[in-house]
This record gives sequence, C-alpha cells and structure tokens, in this order.
Amino acid sequence: MPKPLLLVVIPFAPERLEGLDAHFEIVWWKALPDATGFLAERGAQVQVLLTSGAAGLPAGSRDHLTELRLIACNGVGYDAIDMAWARAEGIHVTNTPDVLSADVADLALALLLGVFRQIPAADRFVREGAWASGPLPLGRRLGGSRVGILGLGNIGQRIAHRCAAFDTEVAYTGRHRKPDTAYAYFDSPRALAGWADVLIAATPGGAATRHLVSAEVLDALGPRGVFVNIARGSVVDEPALVARLADGRLAGAGLDVFADEPRVPAALLGLPQVVLSPHIASATHETRQAMAEIVVTNIRAFAEGAGLPTPIA
Ligand code: 8YV
Repeated sequence: MPKPLLLVVIPFAPERLEGLDAHFEIVWWKALPDATGFLAERGAQVQVLLTSGAAGLPAGSRDHLTELRLIACNGVGYDAIDMAWARAEGIHVTNTPDVLSADVADLALALLLGVFRQIPAADRFVREGAWASGPLPLGRRLGGSRVGILGLGNIGQRIAHRCAAFDTEVAYTGRHRKPDTAYAYFDSPRALAGWADVLIAATPGGAATRHLVSAEVLDALGPRGVFVNIARGSVVDEPALVARLADGRLAGAGLDVFADEPRVPAALLGLPQVVLSPHIASATHETRQAMAEIVVTNIRAFAEGAGLPTPIA
C-alpha cells in the first residue's frame, strides 16, 4: 500500500520532519520539476499539506487535492486558507498559536522605538561618518505617548504589556470589549486613532480586517501619528499609508508586513521616518523551533489518528 503524500509548500527544515516518513512520502513543492504534472498525476495522493497562513495552497492546486485531509499551518495566522472551503471539504486546519506571541510583540516595540529614536538612521549616520559633521537630529520620547492597539489578542496583550513598561498610556479596539483588562476600550479604529499618538495593528489578516486601517483612520492618527504593523499587510490601506508618509500627513511607521510580499512599495524605501523589516516578527531560532514542533506534532497526531493539538475551529 503506497504511503499518502505530505506536500511541503514552504521553506521548512527537513530534519524537523524526521520520523514522518514512516507515515508519508514527503514531497517538496519547490523541488518539483513539473508541479502542474505532479498535481495532475499525484494530487489525489496528497493527504497533508504543510504551509503557512500567509502562503496557503499553491495556486490552482485545490481541485487536484481531492483527498486532502489536513492543512498544517506553520504560523498563527491562517488568512490565506479558505476556511469555509476547508470545513465544507472536511479538511482539518491547524496553526501554531501562542508560542510566537512574545517575539512578535518584541518586534512591534523594536519597530516603534526604531521610529521614535531613529535607530536605523542613527546606525547609517555613524557608519557613513556623518557624525564628524555634527549630531544626529533629535528624536522623540516614547514615554508619555498614547498607544492604541488594534486587536488585544495574545499578541496585542503582550504588546500592551511592553508599551506600559515604557511609561505609555495604552488603549485598544477590537470586535469586543475585554472585561478582564484595565486598558481603555474604543469602539472603532477611527475613535482609537483619534485618541492615539501610536497605532499598532495586531489583528488577524483576512477579509474581516482588510483595510481596517483606512485612509480615514490614518488621518485621525494625524501628522504626529506613528503606525506599526506586525499583523498583515492587508490590514492597512497601503497606498493611503504610503501617500501620507511621503507627504507628511503621518509622522512615521514601523512595518514588518506588506500587501504584496516580498515586494515593498518603492516610495517607502527612501523615507527615513519609516522602519522596515521583512516579515520577521516570529523569526527567531527559538520560536521557529517551537512552531515547527507544533506543526509536526499535529501532523503526527493526524497520522496516528489521535486528536489534533491545535486545531482551528
Ligand atoms: C509566518 C506569521 O507564519 O505566524 C504568522 O501568521 O505571519 C509568521 O509567523 C512565518 O513567516 C512562518 O511562515
């Protein structure tokens, strides 16, 4: 009896899949000489797909994966997975919640401090020898700022905790007020932005949050406002953001995610008040190891007919 296929469609350390070859023939999407031919000939043998919430399924593969039973996401977000379709097809979907929340929150603060204290510009200033000609222009104090957090979930709560440690005032918005928190609640992103000096997007991606940070919200944040995004590029109206950063209607931004990764709007690349990073919020050795362990544990549980540790309802 041939083994079912485990199709890996994202970069993933092969050694982390050790032992799964007892249950599956492991196929690496990127190594396929003819992916289209593979799907046509062997797509029906694929029982498990290892992907990320941002990558989802390869384009055009859905109709060939007729026996797919598990989509294991390497990440907490699963916005690229059509959950309605998965449920209708009886396909289990798992993710890697919680283990990455602290690192993602750390990067949000790193980006925020990078903008307020001009860290990347300061580094360039020293490396380029500009210091000999005089001091770097003054930065901005973070302490005392009003920080608004969009989405007080696992990641948003850790961001709030970190921001409070920097003597800021924290408030939030989200689908529901959280009764067990001391932070002030605003009933809309627009209202929160009107109050805040800093707006940090910490919501899930997907259709429900698409352009949640609209042009109107960015205008409410205003010319002294700073926007930080460690969520998904889809959460903000990116052209509106770029225009406001370029013409001064927004003071600065710290961005780890973008609408069309790995492509980044060229207009952002020349703006020193914008700190950019390449979707690295969870990218530490420790967190990626923990994520991979959860991915493999889910796949192994599926293979052994056991309950899935981190299913998405
Ligand atoms: C990616 C992320 O999944 O967890 C998420 O939703 O955005 C990241 O952790 C990571 O790049 C692994 O693919």
